[in-house]
Amino acid sequence: MSQARQRYKDLLTIGQLRPAEVEALVADALALKREPRRWAGALAGRSVILLFEKPSLRTRVSFEVGVSRLGGHAMYYDHSKQRIGERESVKDYGRNLERWVRVIVARVFAQRVLEELAGNTEAAVINALSNEHHPCQALADVLTLTERFGTVRGVKVAFVGDGNNVCVSLAQAVTKLGGRMVIVTPPGHAPPAAVIESCRREAAECGGSVEVGTDPALAAGADAVYTDEWVSMHQTGSAERLAAFEPYRVDERVMARASGRAVFMHCLPAVRGQEVTAGVIDDAARSVVYDQAENRMHAQMAVLVRVAGDEIAK
Ligand code: CP
Ligand code: NVA
Repeated sequence: MSQARQRYKDLLTIGQLRPAEVEALVADALALKREPRRWAGALAGRSVILLFEKPSLRTRVSFEVGVSRLGGHAMYYDHSKQRIGERESVKDYGRNLERWVRVIVARVFAQRVLEELAGNTEAAVINALSNEHHPCQALADVLTLTERFGTVRGVKVAFVGDGNNVCVSLAQAVTKLGGRMVIVTPPGHAPPAAVIESCRREAAECGGSVEVGTDPALAAGADAVYTDEWVSMHQTGSAERLAAFEPYRVDERVMARASGRAVFMHCLPAVRGQEVTAGVIDDAARSVVYDQAENRMHAQMAVLVRVAGDEIAK
């Protein structure tokens, strides 16, 4: 087995993965998508719990269906009314759950809850979104880019909007694969400096680049223009906040300045008329948002097999 395909216990961030491990997950997701039957029993007899402190459509459904296609059993535990760690300690959560389930998929507010959970359980822990990271989304996104362009290497990806969880994980994945990442946000909304620094280091090693700024013109020539909601689930919108984001709407003008082969990307859910115009997101020729949504399942199946599945003969 190649080093990139060695098992790891948890998937908490894209930053934890070596570039070869990101490449291997994308390759496995492509293979799973092509020939799902080969993996039909990879999770046989194993249970997966989904603990969600926040709402979800894509993540919940794609995990539940993906687990079932791998022959496992998934159950959803609604944590929207009481956060993990409130009724009993995060440690006791982990120590109990490992007696019944092989994998914990958790959507939380604080990344440190995932870290504490992972450190206190033998079950694998997969980050299904935290305030800080959204690694499963980013894996689906680089899978989508790979399908569209054959590779992420050299592809210019411009994220325009809030330097949030989706932006952070995307930047980490794109730079590890040698892409040209551009992050355009209103002043004060860039991703944390430490994330940008680590992306710069990664880009230098992997042959990519990172550019961060506040001028929407930086997205010119992009092969993919990506945006996300201006107000994430853990944030509160205000007239002032929305006004700051106004110049960063992805509209027909932004797409006209992108490269000739450019695609539009969004993790969804979207607010048409806010971060993106209806014309752009509903342009079937350029918008790949539903491919991204479908690819959540294939990418996550690759992760599930890596952390908890049976090896499949290649
Ligand atoms: N993109 C994404 O994570 O969607 P959900 O919030 O619906 O899971
Ligand atoms: N940035 C968004 C992503 C939703 C999938 C949020 O955290 O709400």
